[in-house]
Amino acid sequence: MTEPVTLRVDNSVAIITIENPPVNALSHAVRAGLSDKIEIAVADETAKAIVLRAEGRTFPAGADVREFGRPREAPILSDVCALLEDCSKPTIAAVHGSALGGGFELALACHYRVAQKAARFGLPEVKLGVLPGGGGTQRLPRIVGAVVALDLMLTGKPLGAQTALDLGVADLVVEANLDTAAMTLAGQLIANGGATRPTRDRSEGLQDPGGFVNAVAARREKVKSDPLPSVARIVDCIEAAQILPFDAGIAMERAAFDDCEASAEANAMRHAFFAERRASKIPELEGATLRPIKSIGVVGAGTMGSGIAISCLDAGFPVVLVERDQDALDRGVQRIVANYDKSVDKGRIDTATGVERLARLTSTTSMHELAPVDLIIEAVFEDEQVKRTVFTQLDTVMKPGAILATNTSYLDIDTLAATISRPQDVVGYHFFSPAHIMKLLEVVVGDQTDPNVVATGFDLARKLRKVPVRASVADGFIGNRVLASYRLAADFMLEDGASPAQIDAAMRAYGFPIGPYQVLDMAGLDISWARRKRLAASRAPEDRYVAIGDKICEQGWFGQKAGRGYYIHDQAGTPVENPDVLAIIEAERRSKGVALRAFSQQEIQQRCVFAMANEGARLVSEGVALRPSDVDVVLLYGYGFPRYRGGPMMAADQAGLLTVKNALINWQSEEPRFWVPSPLFDELIKNGRSFGDL
Ligand code: NAI
Repeated sequence: MTEPVTLRVDNSVAIITIENPPVNALSHAVRAGLSDKIEIAVADETAKAIVLRAEGRTFPAGADVREFGRPREAPILSDVCALLEDCSKPTIAAVHGSALGGGFELALACHYRVAQKAARFGLPEVKLGVLPGGGGTQRLPRIVGAVVALDLMLTGKPLGAQTALDLGVADLVVEANLDTAAMTLAGQLIANGGATRPTRDRSEGLQDPGGFVNAVAARREKVKSDPLPSVARIVDCIEAAQILPFDAGIAMERAAFDDCEASAEANAMRHAFFAERRASKIPELEGATLRPIKSIGVVGAGTMGSGIAISCLDAGFPVVLVERDQDALDRGVQRIVANYDKSVDKGRIDTATGVERLARLTSTTSMHELAPVDLIIEAVFEDEQVKRTVFTQLDTVMKPGAILATNTSYLDIDTLAATISRPQDVVGYHFFSPAHIMKLLEVVVGDQTDPNVVATGFDLARKLRKVPVRASVADGFIGNRVLASYRLAADFMLEDGASPAQIDAAMRAYGFPIGPYQVLDMAGLDISWARRKRLAASRAPEDRYVAIGDKICEQGWFGQKAGRGYYIHDQAGTPVENPDVLAIIEAERRSKGVALRAFSQQEIQQRCVFAMANEGARLVSEGVALRPSDVDVVLLYGYGFPRYRGGPMMAADQAGLLTVKNALINWQSEEPRFWVPSPLFDELIKNGRSFGDL
């Protein structure tokens, strides 16, 4: 194996090169190699300066993910950074690509930084529930002050090279020939006496101590209720950069890093990171022959169809958009145009980009224009008969080998596929609203779907910058089935004594952006009503049925769009509890003779989350989801499950599967079928395993 770090001396400059493909992650071997080579370069009297550079596509883009959550073997990154900084010869980082996390910290520990114009600098550690642990919290504020340092560390968003130059983070930015520029700078520094410039001794960012501390205090106030421990610790560490000596600040950073890395929140966020990677591994991708997708058709230009079209246009595809009549088409196109106008107004894209994207859109009321496209996404009304008619029409116009994807929320794609002559080409693409923003895409595999069609779907999802998760056919697939259980658990509590506002508040406190009844009001209560009616015939008579939602719908209170739902939605102002709904709930309780009881916030959270985990376990047992972590990815990316909780399966693992199972059994006395634990609990508990092991 070649060494990941090499050293050569050229023109009195020691050039240390990192080569650890694909992203030059700072694994133990790299850290050890750096440490060795820096010591050799320092001892080498012929070398008067040191340039640190990387081969391949980027300067180190972060830590080695395989070491996440494990104790790091020495030398740790801050040791390497200290070696670089304390060097008696000037050190220069030559940065290209993305210097992220430890990569940026390594560059900050050098005395100078030269960057290629396209380079980026970022500290995204907060996204994994930790904070920079290689001295970044102490070095960066010394150069840029508190405001920028806090912004970078709390958002995780990277800086471009030009901004880095303006802020003094980079000393020089070049279009090309980075190595030459670094060597030239090294030559100049040597010629000028070879002075060093340790970042620890810099103080441009500390010049206004009062302003610095005030900026920290303002941020502390802003994040005081943030549930992520690393957020508050980042603020503390930045403050330390101003008020403590450098070494004490470094010690504080180390302690904060260790605490945060060991926290349940960081553990959950690491799980989310790995779960997303695992979700992309599906059996169909092995040995697949992808079907070429050069153009996309979208049928139905409503809420979903227009968002899906935008997503495809954004990814560079030509799109043919088909509606049933000119008025509906005009409305759909108008939505798409308005989206691009807004993006231009907000500076997210320039005018030329907006014009170019729209130029790739063909809108029509004729299905025949879909004849040449490679893949069609159907997003017409959620009505089996309407979809069947559209499928039959498409069957006559689609070219051989074209893929037909349906964006149905609940319908059985096997039944739909069976209506046409090419069921092998049919797949489900379940997008989430707004489709051009939400990352999740459930790729639903039918009994007859060709594995290459599934593999092509996964490949396309990535091109659309989505997070695809494989699901088999089931009512509601993964996400909506888990959601249905979440809502049932909530509805039972509603009938037994909790109020919609109380349940919503409990779930917000758990970390959801909004509670289940707020979501229902936003999405429209009629959608879940239609589902309940559709499933009415298959409902077992012994199952408890909560009719509160139906009673609300019977009044025409479909939520936000109707001005009334669980809440009253005025044009202005925050929604308030709907007293008429509270009266409906009261009446239902009375008619059923419910013995009212109180629910604590913790019990509400547990019942909702354990119901989700139990449904997730059932989905895994039934083979609808490939693995528990896929259920987590669906909930995290499609349903607002708080990332720092890792998803319902992770939450169950953290609570302990035996604890969860016992709670389910306890509640079973109330609703015997709903709360019956999935057999997966016993299988895992018996073997001392958890969902995370599958
Ligand atoms: P929508 O009612 O906003 O749009 C449906 C569009 O299909 C309408 O513009 C209608 O004119 C058009 N249409 C109907 N028949 C047609 C035909 N024969 N040919 C061409 N166009 C036709 O509905 P939405 O919300 O966009 O839903 C579409 C599909 O997406 C449904 O299957 C729904 O279950 C699914 N879905 C909806 C989500 C949501 O949050 N709204 C989320 C995920 C999936």
